[in-house]
Amino acid sequence: MFAGLSWTAAAAALLLALPASADSLYTKSSPVLRVDAKNYDQLIARSNHTSIIEFYAPWCGHCQNLKPAYEKAARNLQGLAKVAAVNCDDESNQAFCGSMGIQGFPSLKIVVPSKKAGRPSVEDYMGARSAKAIVDAVVDRIPNHVKRIGDKSLDSWLKEGNSSAKAILFTEKGTTSALIRALAVDFLGNINFAQIRNKGKGAVSTFGVSSFPTLVLLPGGEQDAIVYNGEMKKGPITEFLSQIAQPNPDPAPKKAKASNKAKDESKAKKKASEDSAAYSSASASHLADEVAGATSITLEESSVPTESPEPGAAPSDAPKPVDVPDAPEPLPTLETSEQLRKACLGPKTGTCILALVPAVKDSETVLPEAATVALGSLSEVAHKHKQRHGHLFPFYALPVDNADAVRVRDALSVNTDSDVELIALNGRRSWFRRYVGEGYGHEEVEKWVDAIRLGEGKKEKLPEGLVETEEQPETHDEL
Ligand SMILES: *[C@@H]1O[C@H](CO)[C@@H](O)[C@H](O)[C@H]1NC(C)=O
Ligand SMILES: *[C@@H]1O[C@H](CO)[C@@H](O)[C@H](O)[C@H]1NC(C)=O
Repeated sequence: MFAGLSWTAAAAALLLALPASADSLYTKSSPVLRVDAKNYDQLIARSNHTSIIEFYAPWCGHCQNLKPAYEKAARNLQGLAKVAAVNCDDESNQAFCGSMGIQGFPSLKIVVPSKKAGRPSVEDYMGARSAKAIVDAVVDRIPNHVKRIGDKSLDSWLKEGNSSAKAILFTEKGTTSALIRALAVDFLGNINFAQIRNKGKGAVSTFGVSSFPTLVLLPGGEQDAIVYNGEMKKGPITEFLSQIAQPNPDPAPKKAKASNKAKDESKAKKKASEDSAAYSSASASHLADEVAGATSITLEESSVPTESPEPGAAPSDAPKPVDVPDAPEPLPTLETSEQLRKACLGPKTGTCILALVPAVKDSETVLPEAATVALGSLSEVAHKHKQRHGHLFPFYALPVDNADAVRVRDALSVNTDSDVELIALNGRRSWFRRYVGEGYGHEEVEKWVDAIRLGEGKKEKLPEGLVETEEQPETHDEL
């Protein structure tokens, strides 16, 4: 398996493998759920939700390349499906990976719950390795426990399970959104879900529905229907439904041993509810919907990401560069990979300057002097231009704890523990330039910035894969 690696890379991989925490491709803070041989059954196989699992080895280049897209898919699918990863390089997972038939890295499998608890169907995902293709494929496989009913079938559905709680979504759509399906999974066995199209005039008037989508909760028995009028997001909807019935804890609480059963149970419950809170409160920051049947699981393994332009790639959502009248302001910091992408690494982003600096954990952290000087010089240059109302590209600080900082450093061959490094880059034109001046004094840095401004000096080609060119996944968290 090491055949394709140079000796140094293999040695580095072995060295990296020494501390237990360093060998996982996904950190604790990653949106990707870390799964292993021990918890696979509980977290994935016994879940009522669909999951996708990446089986990987940390040293594998294709796995590293997949990481940004996979994390993006995970963010996009939060609260809708599970996006997980198993490190097959970890000795304790090797037998498990073998039993899953893993022969190469990365291998992606979609796990869809079946009627039999704990016996899901597992299929290989052979689609494109882009966030969009992954999201589409997974969304397509979210179980659908939402009954589509019309005027004629309303009565009989209402009578089914007479006293149990029910939720009806009135919608203009002919499809069943990922969000309502995910909610139905969360409340499986506790609330029955149905969807009625706005064409069902009888039902619409029975419930006095005047706009779409509208969600109505029927507590069961003789109790009155409650109309939801909050935000159409998973978090608040879950809270609304929870006044009648709780979502199933996922993972289900472990069965406790006889001895200190009560204690363990309450622990397990607490843990489970924490886990499920983390899972279901999952963000809902996007808007559009519609599965659109756009699943494309036809492309080959090594398919190249498509070149279609990304919506929202303009740096508008990134932290704004300095905007100050009198005194130089500190450089804005790119804290998340999303901010980094929008500011500097999008296929449409123009020139920007990144100051690669160590992590700034809190206000007490002292940066190395070179970093402080460099940041000071940049903010002075920015300030000067601001005062002259000159147009200048933005400057940002990129601390090493940004989830993508190491990837950027690796791609540009910047040492991870270098005190400071200034890089100018242009995503659209795919070039970068490194600052190689003497020290980081104001004048030297300004000379460099001016040269870039005037297009002087030699540029290098940005390594492939640094700027994201893939299509953005659609969002699916609307009713
Ligand atoms: C529903 O339950 C109520 C009370 O339990 C009962 O009176 C009623 O007959 C039931 N309706 C149906 C259709 O089963
Ligand atoms: C799965 O759904 C069933 C109801 O069909 C429920 O009893 C169970 O708790 C759910 N399991 C999980 C892990 O959510």
